[in-house]
This record gives sequence, C-alpha cells and structure tokens, in this order.
Amino acid sequence: MYSLIRKLLFQLDAERAHHLSLSAMRWAGQTPIMRTMLQKWYAVQHPCLETNASGLHFANPVGLAAGYDKNGIAAQGLAALGFGHVEIGTLTRLPQIGNPKPRLYRVIKSNAIINSLGFPNEGVEAFLARAKSQESRIQTQPSTLNPQRFVQGINIGKGKDTPIERAAEDYVALLRQVAPYANYVTVNISSPNTLGLRQLQAREMIEGLLKAVMAERQTLAVTSGQRPVPILVKIAPDLTSDELDDVLAAIMTAEADGVIATNTTIGRLDIPKSFVALKGGLSGRPLRYLSTEMIRLIYKRTNGQLPIIGVGGIDNADAAIEKIRAGASLVQVYTGMVFTGPSLAKQINRGLIHECKQLGLKNVVELRGRD
Ligand SMILES: Cc1cc2nc3c(=O)[nH]c(=O)nc-3n(C[C@H](O)[C@H](O)[C@H](O)COP(=O)(O)O)c2cc1C
Repeated sequence: MYSLIRKLLFQLDAERAHHLSLSAMRWAGQTPIMRTMLQKWYAVQHPCLETNASGLHFANPVGLAAGYDKNGIAAQGLAALGFGHVEIGTLTRLPQIGNPKPRLYRVIKSNAIINSLGFPNEGVEAFLARAKSQESRIQTQPSTLNPQRFVQGINIGKGKDTPIERAAEDYVALLRQVAPYANYVTVNISSPNTLGLRQLQAREMIEGLLKAVMAERQTLAVTSGQRPVPILVKIAPDLTSDELDDVLAAIMTAEADGVIATNTTIGRLDIPKSFVALKGGLSGRPLRYLSTEMIRLIYKRTNGQLPIIGVGGIDNADAAIEKIRAGASLVQVYTGMVFTGPSLAKQINRGLIHECKQLGLKNVVELRGRD
C-alpha cells in the first residue's frame, strides 16, 4: 500500500510532499476515530518494550526524530503510528522562514535525504498559543489527555539572527516557555544549517550553555513545584574524538539527562556523485554506521551511565537493534519513515520483541550495550 502512496508522493517536490503527509497526520490526530484506527493498526504493546530512560517511562523505545513536526501540529496523529515518543521542533524564539528553496532533496538510490532547511518554524509563541488552546480542550475532556501515553519531547534551537555569544539567552527563554508542555527538552546544538550553531559544541561554549540551561530548569522546578524537566543534548556525527570527549565532559558535569546521537552529517558518504555538491545535512542509510559508532563511543566513554537516544539511518528492526546493542536506550527515526512508510515503528517494535524472545530476554533494556 505505501509503495503506491510513495510513488505519488515522490512525484511531488519533497517539501510539498512532506507538508501534505503532515497535514494528513494532523487531521488523523484530531479525528478520534482515525486516531483509534491508526493505533489499532500500528501500535504494538508488549511488556518487553516498556522502557525507562532519563527519568521517563516509554511504552516502547522507538520515537520520531525532531524536524518532522517542527511546529508540533500533528504529534497526536504521529504518535498513533506506534511511536513511544515524538520529538517536536526545532522551535526558535521568533518565527523563521528558513533558507532559500530548494533545500530538501531525496537521494533515492541511497535511501537518504539532504536538507538545508535552517529551522523554518512558526516560532515558540505560535506553538504556545496552540498548546494552550488544546490544553483547555483537554481539561473539558480529560479522557482525551494523551490517550496513547506517548512522551512528548520539545527540541529548541538558536535563532538565525542570534549572535553565538548570546545563544544561551535563546535556549534559556525557550526552555522557560516550553517546559510546561514537554516531557523532555532537547538542546539542539548540532544542525549544520544554522550558521555557527555547531560551534556551541566547543568546550567553553557548551559548558556555559548547559550551566545556564540547567540553572533555569532548577528555577522552573522550584517555582512550579514540578519535577525538573529532563534535558537532553543533540550532537553531530562529525565531532572528532577529542571534541566528543569535551562535549561528554560538559554533559556529565552539568548532569544533563541524556544525549541524542546524532544529527545529520556534513559528510557525503555513499551517495551518487551528482548529489555531493548539494548544501546541507545528509541523513538516512549512509549515516547509519557513523551514528552507531558515535553511540558505541559515548557508551564506552561514559561507562553506560549516560542515557543515549540513537538516531541515524534506522529503516528496519536490525538497524534499531544495532544501535541498542551499541549502547542506545531509545532510538528515533526520520528519513526511514519517508522511504519505508508509516509502518516503520510497528516493524521495529515487532523486530525487538522477536529479538528478545530469541535471546530469552525479559526486556529490551537487556540488549543495551551488549556489543
Ligand atoms: C528534512 C529534515 C529536517 C530535520 N530537521 C531537524 C530539526 O529541525 N532539528 C533537529 O534536531 N534535527 C532535525 N533533523 C535531523 C533528524 O532529527 C535526525 O537526527 C537525522 O535526520 C538522522 O536520522 P535519520 O537518518 O533517521 O533521518 C532533520 C532531518 C531531516 C531529514
């Protein structure tokens, strides 16, 4: 079925096709009967999939990566495809139109995407306005409150025009605004399409940034009386070994709650020559092993102490298992959804159950770091 839909979608410009499918998921999420049908079809429930990480409980370890639903308009519908968590964003303080088009390319031969979007999003105020109106609807119908028990992450980033030395102000302000609507917040310092953003991964930069962010989340916890919101840091696959050590040291010192490895790569691995010169970050199958090796290094260097969300080139259960065996507690997908379709979370979850049964494991957590 998806191969037919994919044929039609792939006739369209990639960005247009994305907006169409996102609108469909938004509608499905807002239509109770559709949402229930999707859940019945795609959601896989099994005790071996239930996972705890970064202080949160996940119905299964498979999530949708940031960038798919930048404005958080379709999280309910997307979660109904069987994801244990959905990460919305990247949100910035002000609305942004992003980089000039064309800026999104499918590399069909390699099951990959190159994007140079540059965080186009409606800005945090628009997100908050929507979230608040949904909240009031939820209050009148408590049974609709997160019926799928999915975890919602919110990914935040520096605005295009914010100078790098004032980046922390953006992250702190965004954290304050989105925290009431997030089960966790991701500090994105690794997208290649916002000038200077990845400089925030340098030792002094990330130390200062995380200090400010962690102090703010403590203040928020005290004033709201709520548990501190978990903070995750999303990193690039292109860090050198020394740079990775610096980033990990800063994350461990700040006592952040986890790392998301990885964002897209500026490398041009395993793609046809005609795509090599395109600007932007490469995702999908060519990123798979680069990101898995990053996860393996992080797991080793932190003695398995730091929760890792593994992302990059996962388009089947084996690729997800590879990341968990390398040290990931959870995984995320983006490009795999575009090429494989909406049943990807279901396929992966079924594969994880099968793997647990084969190895006689009670829970997928026992697979973590086995390699
Ligand atoms: C079109 C596109 C847009 C993306 N936008 C974001 C974003 O806004 N923020 C972010 O942290 N990552 C973003 N990503 C990166 C993904 O979340 C993910 O880390 C990366 O694509 C690797 O996973 P994949 O190979 O499964 O796609 C984007 C990826 C793609 C393909």
